[in-house]
Amino acid sequence: TVGLAVAAKAAGKKYFGSATDNPELTDSSYTALLSNTKEFNQLTPGNSMKWDATEGTRGTFTFTKADEIVSLAQTNGQLIRGHTCVWHSQLPGWVTAGNFDASTLTSIIQTHTTNVVGHFKGKIWDVVNEPFNEDGTWRTSVFYNTLGSSFVSIALQAARAADPAAKLYVNDYNIDGTGAKSTAMVNLVKSLKASGAPIDGVGIQAHLIVGQVPSTIQANIAQFTALGVEVAITELDIRMTLPVTTALLEQQKKDYQTVIAACKAVSGCIGVTIWDYTDKYSWVPSVFQGQGAALPWDDRLVKKPAYDGIVAGFA
Ligand code: G3I
Repeated sequence: TVGLAVAAKAAGKKYFGSATDNPELTDSSYTALLSNTKEFNQLTPGNSMKWDATEGTRGTFTFTKADEIVSLAQTNGQLIRGHTCVWHSQLPGWVTAGNFDASTLTSIIQTHTTNVVGHFKGKIWDVVNEPFNEDGTWRTSVFYNTLGSSFVSIALQAARAADPAAKLYVNDYNIDGTGAKSTAMVNLVKSLKASGAPIDGVGIQAHLIVGQVPSTIQANIAQFTALGVEVAITELDIRMTLPVTTALLEQQKKDYQTVIAACKAVSGCIGVTIWDYTDKYSWVPSVFQGQGAALPWDDRLVKKPAYDGIVAGFA
């Protein structure tokens, strides 16, 4: 086989990548495959660039774990997606419980984003993560509650100033197909562009379920790129209800092919990242009881039919 990154590049995409996390890097067979640039020419740190990891104490920045992953990627010659500057989750208590007024919280967002984006130059960034509810309304968070939707442009502007070469994205889940939440993202991009805020891309997480890939996925990607932004599939996995069966694995293969083919078909869809590559380190079973097997390699690092589905999608 050619490798997933090789297949992606042959299809005109910039990268095929995987999320990873620091504890897994001690697993040498895991890290060897993660470092194989025929399979992956991009990495996303799954946790180590988040606010709780980088600024657990106000004004004190810690990049040890994030640097470990960035330096691995650099050694391997892989791109990095930075994940993530401003998100309602995995925030340290000093942010959530600080009860800051609008101008103080603005400067907290600016300081955080400036330091994080400025530390890792030249990356692609999920600057803002998961701003919307399922119905397309704004998610309540310490940021929205205090600043309204302006927290998005505050973060984007700080990111642009910290590194003019960085690509700046807003990222969310359940914006894979058309619908209320995707429409909210369309409207956000339009209003950011209208106000001159720096926005380069929309990240579609794509945490999907076997047999339930939205039929509108390609049209949805195209409605974002039509706004003049790029799109990336940022956290792809396709989970199933366990136990694994041959039929489920075959459906999963088709589902991966559908998602990849949709990205391939839209030139502004620049790349795809899976949310880790092996079922051994997937986040799914810890959050969705009785579900899992969401990734193209099984928990023994053996390729599943999904792998061939990805190759077929790029072909
Ligand atoms: O670091 C602590 C450790 O000290 C403690 O002993 C252990 C006990 O549970 O928890 C560790 O923290 C965990 C952390 O991952 C690091 O492993 C958290 O409990 C756990 O909740 C956290 O899960 C992460 C999750 O985001 C949190 O929201 C997943 O690994 C990560 O894959 C997941 O990624 C998110 C994206 O950022 C955004 N989109 C959805 C995606 C999946 O949930």
